[in-house]
Amino acid sequence: AATLGTQAVPSGRYFGTAVAAGRLGDSAYSTILDREFNMITPENEMKWDATEPSRGSFNFGPADQIVSHATSHGQQLRGHTLVWHSQLPTWVSGITDAATLRSVMNNHITTTMAHFKGKIHSWDVVNEAFADGSTQLRSSVFQKVLGEGFIEEAFRTARAADPAAKLCYNDYNIENWTDAKTQGLYAMVRDFKSRGVPIDCVGFQSHFGTSGPPASFGTTLSNFAALGVDVQITELDIATAPPTAYANTVKACLNVSRCTGITVWGIRDSDSWRSADNPLLFDSGGNPKPAYDAVISAL
Ligand code: XIL
Repeated sequence: AATLGTQAVPSGRYFGTAVAAGRLGDSAYSTILDREFNMITPENEMKWDATEPSRGSFNFGPADQIVSHATSHGQQLRGHTLVWHSQLPTWVSGITDAATLRSVMNNHITTTMAHFKGKIHSWDVVNEAFADGSTQLRSSVFQKVLGEGFIEEAFRTARAADPAAKLCYNDYNIENWTDAKTQGLYAMVRDFKSRGVPIDCVGFQSHFGTSGPPASFGTTLSNFAALGVDVQITELDIATAPPTAYANTVKACLNVSRCTGITVWGIRDSDSWRSADNPLLFDSGGNPKPAYDAVISAL
């Protein structure tokens, strides 16, 4: 029978989901995971608070569980995420000295990428660095202490750490072409490509309300792709999961040859970080919803 993964493959794309290590032992969960999905993003296990809770003390146990599940089931992995203002331990957010923070950030990137070297298809090197409603970066310890150059530095360090991994910038509210945030990011990616700063992909989180993607989403994807980066839909969920909204999102990706994959942010509604919105493709009993059929037909 057709599955999300098998439907995506003929056009060279993948269909992925966020996975929580703590749910892998739930057989209803892992049955759907292994039947439907060929790309996995660890939902929380590769974030800084999980991997380096105190300086220089790394814990990759929960992430390794997911990596080993993926490896034994033929699934690829997205690494999520190396530099982000959220789920960041206070020992990092409290650093005020630039030389210290630069060394801490680069060591975190290098050590984490070295641990998973050869196993990660794409890394979200920097997550959510731009401010909503603005072309500028948001305030964060990285922006305040290192200045806007922290993003370039993170990507250069990441390329050296694992030259085979694709390096992505990932964010939300960058789907509507005319939004200031979209334009700010577009200018950064254009600048990086013109100066040879290593960036391979842009991830569009795509956490949508009931109306789904903005009408300009396809334009946004193709404009970024035209800069010479791949684009992916990385954290898709849509409040109440209207079938048409899901189908429109899938079609926006399929229309752009450099849109190489789609990831939904969880399997069942009960697994979702927005579970009250029932935003996913499977209901809490693990049954495919109307949106599932709409996605299968659109792929
Ligand atoms: C969310 C997880 O789904 C939750 O379990 C966690 O409590 C908070 O983070 N943008 C991202 C993701 O890049 O990492 C976030 O994931 C959702 C928003």
